[in-house]
Amino acid sequence: MKAKVLINKGNVLSEIDDRLYGSFIEHMGRAVYGGIFDPSHPMSDNYGFRDDVKALVKELNVPLIRYPGGNFLSGYNWEDGIGPVAERPRRLDLAWQTIETNEVGLHEFMRWANELGIEVDMGVNLGTRGIDAARNLVEYCNFPGGTYWSDLRKKHGASEPFNIKTWCLGNEMDGSWQIGAKTAEEYGRLACETAKVMKLVDESIELVVCGTSISTLPSFGTWEQTVLEHTYEYVDYLSLHMYYGNPENDIGNYLAKSLDMDRFIKGVVAICDSVKARKKTEKTLNLAFDEWNIWYHTLETDEQIEKWQVARPVLEDIYTFEDALAFGCLLITLLKNSDRVKIACLAQLVNVIAPIMTETGGEVWRQTIFYPFQQVSTYGRGKVLVTDVVSDKYDTKDFSEVPYLESVVVENDKSNELVIFAVNRSQNEELSLELAIQGYNIESIKDCTTIANHGLKTVNEQGQERVKPETNNQINMSDTQLDIRLPALSWNMIRLTKRD
Ligand code: AHR
Repeated sequence: MKAKVLINKGNVLSEIDDRLYGSFIEHMGRAVYGGIFDPSHPMSDNYGFRDDVKALVKELNVPLIRYPGGNFLSGYNWEDGIGPVAERPRRLDLAWQTIETNEVGLHEFMRWANELGIEVDMGVNLGTRGIDAARNLVEYCNFPGGTYWSDLRKKHGASEPFNIKTWCLGNEMDGSWQIGAKTAEEYGRLACETAKVMKLVDESIELVVCGTSISTLPSFGTWEQTVLEHTYEYVDYLSLHMYYGNPENDIGNYLAKSLDMDRFIKGVVAICDSVKARKKTEKTLNLAFDEWNIWYHTLETDEQIEKWQVARPVLEDIYTFEDALAFGCLLITLLKNSDRVKIACLAQLVNVIAPIMTETGGEVWRQTIFYPFQQVSTYGRGKVLVTDVVSDKYDTKDFSEVPYLESVVVENDKSNELVIFAVNRSQNEELSLELAIQGYNIESIKDCTTIANHGLKTVNEQGQERVKPETNNQINMSDTQLDIRLPALSWNMIRLTKRD
């Protein structure tokens, strides 16, 4: 089968905000305890954080991490996580039915993130708490000194403010499962007043207000509309959350689910812009897709895991080759919408629906979804080009006109590269891809890799990394055209060096 990708020099969709490659660490499962933090592990640093886990986090080039939740956030008292560790309370975490020891709190997490050069996207609890706790947290984190909360931060060892820029106004406040769930009116008012006060403490911060937690909820649309009526002037981003899976075991349909993500994003953009028009304002609201991933393998089995233990090992989905392909289509979809999606957080980072898995006290390893994320996050920096794709299409149970080729091209001026990301959705046919590059001269092919030729259910395991990029030699180049053979069911990255 043949397919074509056309790009034109100067035809730029957007500058990529690096925060598009954010991730998420929640106090849940073995993300923190037994994940990034494991004090008795031989690879742990003086603070109890694993160096081998840090090394893989570095490989992923994550610029931003959302913290500390998630559903956990809506019952969390941030003050429990400051001060001498021995004096911190053990609490019931009602969201995930675990025990939270508070051994890791604000300072420990900030130190870990700073060491890795990662910005933190901090959540404030709008479930059980509200304006007061939120304004105190901003003062504690960002105010230089000379006030109660900023001086307390200094007393606890951080003489300089953390200067946290991005903040979430609660989590999934429309979800019936959420501690302190609210109607759109209730949340809209609370988020507006909280936002106002947080910005009074530090006007430089950026705020993310909660959109719908799953696009299939009946309140989708009206929730956004009402919340934005209250908050539009006070916030900077509206959040979206969505997880996909293949419970019906239908690969064609599964790989098409990125079309749903695309439709979801475009729908939310339309809602933001309708509020903009109604309010007659110049301000355009952008999006934070601050939870996205594949999540379905553990949905039923997690119920059986014993409750009220520390680090209850939930959401430990083991990803397959087909998950990596579906995941790659989602990544490309985020890039194709990067004119409005400025922040995105892969949920999550370690052990909990994660690219990085650990054994508590043991090895660390990369899941199948690790490499697509690592490649896009590392090489997909700069500008997204308007990418025209000409491809045959197919129909599935839920989607029609699904292109066999999913692709996007990024221009990275710093490294002088054009980078093509592509998924061949066809189950049995190789794609002969012609890349027509107008206005650029290509000097050389820097790298051409593929993840392909695996059984759909192949997984990576400790010590056995089966699903990973391999060199693809099926590539030919002339000055303005490139022909590449993309294997059936494959994730691909091609890096080209431009000639000035
Ligand atoms: O990422 C796991 C959970 O999914 C988060 O805690 C919640 O926000 C979402 O429902």
